[in-house]
Amino acid sequence: MSIIILLVFAYLIGSIPTAVWVSKRIYGLDIREHGSGNAGATNTFRVLGKKAGIGVMIVDMLKGFVAVKLSYLAGFHSGSEQLTNLQVGLGLCAVVGHIFPIWAGFRGGKGIATLFGMILAIHPIVAISLVAVFLLMLFLTRYVSLSSMAASVAFPVLILFIFKDQAPEISYKLFAIATACMVVLTHHKNISRLLAGNESKVRLIKRRK
Ligand code: G3P
Repeated sequence: MSIIILLVFAYLIGSIPTAVWVSKRIYGLDIREHGSGNAGATNTFRVLGKKAGIGVMIVDMLKGFVAVKLSYLAGFHSGSEQLTNLQVGLGLCAVVGHIFPIWAGFRGGKGIATLFGMILAIHPIVAISLVAVFLLMLFLTRYVSLSSMAASVAFPVLILFIFKDQAPEISYKLFAIATACMVVLTHHKNISRLLAGNESKVRLIKRRK
């Protein structure tokens, strides 16, 4: 199948505005008008609860995962650099779709879950390491945004220094660096709130009354 068609298809998959549709169609509100205003899993969890939050997170991750798997329709050899390059391109299109969804007025989320699904599909071991960084930061700070940014900044560090043999492709290295910058940019409002001391924290353990 033509690469251009695959890239467009990946963007359309990423564009599925899970949080917006769930909030509007099931709960009768627009998630972008509540909480942090972000159309993502964290804000859905915050505003609509665990069930909706986990559902949105799974679908948003699947968007990145499925977009990468579209690469197998291009007919490149498994393990080839061409295949990885295409996978990076497809995953990126899905992430861009998630941030700027055509189905929701181009006002989407910050890309974290979709990015994770994409990395999981390309290099699972890297994805699992990033989850470890995220959870450690979350445990230490209880800020999801800061934990997302820490994991994103850890991504190029892992790719360039720790997993350099498993991920030797230049496209993947560049993608990792671009990702870190992009995630910091999509979190600019969170950074302002963190600096002002009014970013909301998550409660990790439910206290008994
Ligand atoms: O994945 C997004 C998260 O890092 C921040 O979400 O709703 O706190 O802005 P939120």
